[in-house]
Amino acid sequence: MLRRLHPEQPDAFAFTAANQQWAEAQITKYPEGRQASAVIPLLWRAQEQEGWLSRPAIESVADMLGMAYIRVLEVASFYFMFQLQPVGSVAHIQVCGTTSCMICGAEDLIAVCKDKIAAKPHVLSADGKLSWEEVECLGSCTNAPMAQIGKDYYEDLTAENFGKIIDDLVAGKVPTPGPQNGRYAAEPLSGLSSLTEYEAGKPKYNASVELASDLGDTVKRIDGTEVPILTPWLGKDGKAAATKTAPKPPKERATPKPAVKQAEEAKAKAETVGEEQPETLTDPRGGKADDLKLLKGVGPKLEETLNGLGFYHYDQIAGWTPEHVAWVDARLKFKGRIERDGWIEQAKSLASGQET
Ligand code: FES
Repeated sequence: MLRRLHPEQPDAFAFTAANQQWAEAQITKYPEGRQASAVIPLLWRAQEQEGWLSRPAIESVADMLGMAYIRVLEVASFYFMFQLQPVGSVAHIQVCGTTSCMICGAEDLIAVCKDKIAAKPHVLSADGKLSWEEVECLGSCTNAPMAQIGKDYYEDLTAENFGKIIDDLVAGKVPTPGPQNGRYAAEPLSGLSSLTEYEAGKPKYNASVELASDLGDTVKRIDGTEVPILTPWLGKDGKAAATKTAPKPPKERATPKPAVKQAEEAKAKAETVGEEQPETLTDPRGGKADDLKLLKGVGPKLEETLNGLGFYHYDQIAGWTPEHVAWVDARLKFKGRIERDGWIEQAKSLASGQET
């Protein structure tokens, strides 16, 4: 879709005094030389004031931020949230036409828009009060089909209740936003199957807000006194509260995967086997080290570590005893990998000219 400046433009744009003050305050959020960062908030404020972004509004924002007009136009024309043509003086209606809404009747809503507002999107109604467009998913799919009108979502719409909302807007009323079918929020249409204590309409707030409200505090630092809150199964004294039913026995731990088990065994073994330093070298023999990266699990980093410990050749590793392994293992980051990856067997093969 081409997004261009509208052919008919007003002569000038100016923020109201309050919006001007707000815009200037936004600009101060950014360090010297970075004022352009305020471009989206300022454009948005201009749109909130006028309903759409005219060329004078875009130029005015550019002047305030010391930006080239084209740069600000690029932003305004890139984001679909910016309206580049006049919108209804009362409201601009954005009907979601994406999958969930489409399946649940978005096309019926669009038909209502065509009938009551204008045959085409982005065209003003005859009285100039409304305009409409189809938009992509607005993230309220559970309450499909829905439409955004102004800042609010109107959900669980039908052609009938949507038509009534439009009539009310034209009549100067402010219809209540949110679900239009009696739902409290996005709970199942057939009624709650869990959290039933939160019957629709019963609590003033949803669960997390209600907890914060009950506590009367939402910014308190975690200092340990909140234990009864974090562990509701404990009493205030930190002891387990009496339960009517016997506590379930703890689940048996799953059998560790072979590799992990092997590593654990190797670690335990290394802890019981005494360490003994194998023979090490200060430099590779003949100035040429073997490529230890051919051992499984050895990468450039580990090869560097092994070299640093004085191991450069396959035959060195092939000759390690369990005590030697314990010594080397104690100096590696991940214990047990020598046995787990079978370095000694591999080193024997490589030392005898075979491949691993
Ligand atoms: S599909 Fe309409 S809100 Fe997601």
